[in-house]
Amino acid sequence: MPQIFPRRANSLVSMALWGGAFGVVILILVAITIGSSAHDTGVFTTPEQPVPFSHEHHVSGLGLDCQYCHTGVEKSDFAGLPPTYTCMTCHSQLWTNAEMLEPVRQSLKRDEPIEWVRVHDLPDFTYFSHRAHVNNGVGCESCHGRVDEMPITSQRKPLTMQWCLSCHRNPEPNLRPSDKITTMGYDPAKDGIPGHELLERYAIRKDNLTECVTCHR
Ligand code: HEC
Ligand code: HEC
Ligand code: HEC
Ligand code: HEC
Ligand code: HEC
Repeated sequence: MPQIFPRRANSLVSMALWGGAFGVVILILVAITIGSSAHDTGVFTTPEQPVPFSHEHHVSGLGLDCQYCHTGVEKSDFAGLPPTYTCMTCHSQLWTNAEMLEPVRQSLKRDEPIEWVRVHDLPDFTYFSHRAHVNNGVGCESCHGRVDEMPITSQRKPLTMQWCLSCHRNPEPNLRPSDKITTMGYDPAKDGIPGHELLERYAIRKDNLTECVTCHR
C-alpha cells in the first residue's frame, strides 16, 4: 500500500497522545486535517508482487494451513512471511524451470529474502498484535477475508479505527472456537456456540478494549 498517510501525522499523533489535555486539542485538529477520506482507498488494494503467489492454489488447491507459512500468528505480534526455503521444499522439485519462479531461485542463490510488497500496513502510531486476536477466538477471515479464494493477495477490510472499534465494542458475533481460527468460510450458525459463551471461554474483558492506550501506546 502506498504511504497515503503523511509522515508527520505519525509524530503528531504520538505527541498528542502523550500530551494530556493540550494533546486532545491537537488530536481533534489532526483528525479533522487528515479526515477520513484517506482511509477508504485501502480496501481492495492489490499490489503487484515480484512472484505471482496464489493463496487460492496453495490453500484451497493444496490444502496448506495458514500456519505452514505464517508461523508467527500464535506467538508473536507479527504473522510473518515464509522464508524462501519453505517454498523450496516443493519448488526444488516442482516447476523448477518456470520463469515466474525465477525470483524465488535467485533469492535462494543470493541468500536474500524475496521482496514482497506489503498488502496491509497500519500507520506506525498504532499497535496491533496477531497473538492477542488469534489466541482469543478471532479468525484470520474476520480481518483478511476469503484468502483461500485470492489468486493475488488483496486487502478486503478497511482497517480504519472505526472498523477496529466496531468489533472491540461488540466482539461476540465475531468469535469462533480455537480449532477454527484459520478455517475459511466458517459459519458460526453451524457450530451453534453462542458468542457470549465464547467470550467467557476466552475470558475476554471488553471494558479496556476501546481505551486509546490499547491501540496507541
Ligand atoms: C505456501 C505458503 C503460504 C500459505 C499456506 C499461506 N500464505 Fe499467506 N502469504 C504467503 C506469501 C508468500 C505472502 C506474500 C505475498 C502475497 O502477499 O501474496 C503471503 C501474504 C499474506 C497476506 C498479506 C500480507 C501483507 O502483506 O499484508 C495475508 C493477509 C495472508 N498471507 C494470509 C494468509 C492466510 C489467512 C492463510 C491461510 C488461509 C495463508 N495466508 C496461507 C504465503 C502463504
Ligand atoms: C506444499 C508444496 C508447495 C509449497 C510449500 C509451495 N508451493 Fe508453489 N506450487 C505448488 C504446486 C503443486 C503448484 C502447482 C499448482 C497448480 O498448478 O495448481 C505451485 C504453483 C506455484 C506457482 C505458479 C502459479 C500458481 O499458483 O499456480 C507459483 C508462482 C508458486 N507456486 C510460488 C510459490 C511460493 C512463492 C512459495 C513459497 C512462499 C510456494 N509456491 C510454496 C506447491 C507448493
Ligand atoms: C483482528 C484482525 C486480524 C486477524 C484476526 C488476523 N490479522 Fe493478519 N493482519 C491484520 C492487520 C491489521 C495487519 C497489518 C499489521 C500492521 O501493519 O502492522 C495484518 C498483517 C498480516 C500479515 C503481514 C505480515 C505481518 O505480520 O504484519 C500476514 C501474513 C497476516 N496478517 C496473516 C494473518 C493470518 C494467517 C491470520 C490468522 C491466523 C491473521 N493474519 C489474523 C489483522 C488481522
Ligand atoms: C473481529 C473482531 C476484532 C477486530 C476487527 C479487531 N480486534 Fe482487536 N481484539 C479483539 C478481541 C476479541 C480482543 C480481546 C483479546 C483479549 O481478551 O485479550 C482484541 C484485542 C486487541 C488488542 C490487545 C489488547 C490487550 O489488552 O492486550 C489490541 C492491541 C487490539 N485488539 C488492536 C486492534 C486493532 C488496532 C484493530 C484494527 C486494526 C483490531 N484490534 C481489530 C477483536 C477484534
Ligand atoms: C481498537 C484500536 C483503537 C483504539 C481503541 C483507538 N484507536 Fe485511534 N486509531 C486506530 C487505528 C487502527 C488508526 C489508523 C486508522 C487508519 O489509518 O485509517 C487510528 C487512528 C487514530 C488517529 C489518526 C486520525 C484518524 O482518524 O485516523 C487519531 C487522532 C486517533 N486514532 C486517536 C484515538 C483516540 C483519542 C482514541 C481513544 C478515544 C483512540 N484513537 C482509540 C485504532 C484505535
